[in-house]
Amino acid sequence: MAEKKQQVSRRQFLNYTLTGVGGFMAAGMLAPMVRFAIDPVLQASGSSDMKAVADMSELTNEPQRFDWTIEQVDAWYTSEVTKSAWVYLDENDEVVALSPVCKHLGCTINWAGSEDHPNQFFCPCHGGRYYKDGVNVPNTPPNAALDVYQKEVRDGKLYLGNAVAREEA
Ligand code: FES
Repeated sequence: MAEKKQQVSRRQFLNYTLTGVGGFMAAGMLAPMVRFAIDPVLQASGSSDMKAVADMSELTNEPQRFDWTIEQVDAWYTSEVTKSAWVYLDENDEVVALSPVCKHLGCTINWAGSEDHPNQFFCPCHGGRYYKDGVNVPNTPPNAALDVYQKEVRDGKLYLGNAVAREEA
């Protein structure tokens, strides 16, 4: 039985070589693009979004505004965002941390912002009002209570996270 010799022709050799080198180069170019496209998915989720915003010793029964900054990541863009909360201790010395964003059209509310309603939150845009606990006063423009911040007290400090609607809190 004659032994058949397996030989690679010059054409086949060139085809294999060019395919291999071309594939290698394509993979080198595509890998960073794929990585760039799915990078936000690979990032750790924002469970560590709680920020220390005040010492517990600073809190009183009177709402005070506290501001802090967070790094916000929107897909590939990172920016610094200032957040605010109205914080006080209720009658049981429980922390109440309210979002300052009016539920009507998003203006910023203030505590005792109206001389006529010194014990309420007041929105200067359209006269929206909220009771101290953040519930909207009936017959004023807002139709929902202020959002409340996720909160945590650790080592004498108040940590706040995201503001969420009351049903989710
Ligand atoms: S935005 Fe606050 S009352 Fe309209």
